Amino acid sequence: MNDIEKSYEDFISTVSHELRTPLTSIRGFYQTMLTSWDKLDEKKKKKFLKIIEDQSNRLINLVENMLSVTRLSSGKNNLIFKEIPVRPVVEMAVSIIKNQYVDKKFDLEINPKTPSILVDKDKFQQIMNNLIENAAKYGEENSTIKIETGFCENCEFVSIKVSNLGIGIKEEDYERIFTKFSRIDNPLTRKVQGSGLGLYITKNLVEKMNGKISVKSEPFTNGKYITTFEVLLPSGNVEKQARAKCNL
Ligand SMILES: Nc1ncnc2c1ncn2[C@@H]1O[C@H](COP(=O)(O)OP(=O)(O)O)[C@@H](O)[C@H]1O
Ligand SMILES: [Mg+2]
Repeated sequence: MNDIEKSYEDFISTVSHELRTPLTSIRGFYQTMLTSWDKLDEKKKKKFLKIIEDQSNRLINLVENMLSVTRLSSGKNNLIFKEIPVRPVVEMAVSIIKNQYVDKKFDLEINPKTPSILVDKDKFQQIMNNLIENAAKYGEENSTIKIETGFCENCEFVSIKVSNLGIGIKEEDYERIFTKFSRIDNPLTRKVQGSGLGLYITKNLVEKMNGKISVKSEPFTNGKYITTFEVLLPSGNVEKQARAKCNL
């Protein structure tokens, strides 16, 4: 087998594994519902359906990521820009991810005064899903994932930070993790599944929406680090002001 065939096989194998996890969970829950319908109370039924919904959304996100890779290389990635609030998108991402990582807590520090942002909603959802999923996946057991916004009244960008406590990322890897198929070789990364595509796609989508993404890992205690991914996206306010200025 040559190198290209080998990396193609590796790719198919990791993607299949990633798809199988939510599919297995969906099948498990609907099978339980089918076989034990009469024995389940309303609350349980609702809970199971919610898990099926969240896992289906996770599957959609995985497939979206795969499709994004081909769209990015073919240049076909049409974005629909709209002014949207940050919070519901973050809440949706947390709802999808928290079932998979039950030991994690999620701390949303989203100031209600955060301006809306001018983005493609689905793509922004994909960005948040990828960053929050990474924070949960590579975060210390039982730790808290923090999602916070930063802004100022006339700033061009709204900042969204996703941070977690964990093994961290070395400065020399800051750039590399945003490239295609790149995963940092450490015992943790070897243990958890991944294709190394999430951050590559995330960075590309952020830049297509005229934003910026960066990462920083700072030492905390006991050899652990706080890793923070910061995304800057255009504030809707500025667009409004710009339009107001030229009487549009
Ligand atoms: N919050 C984080 N803490 C530590 N390492 C991270 C974090 N997020 C990403 N990484 C590293 O960056 C690599 C690339 O991430 P990503 O592109 O999302 O791929 P995947 O999650 O599929 O491995 C990961 O494999 C991991 O080594
Ligand atoms: Mg990832």
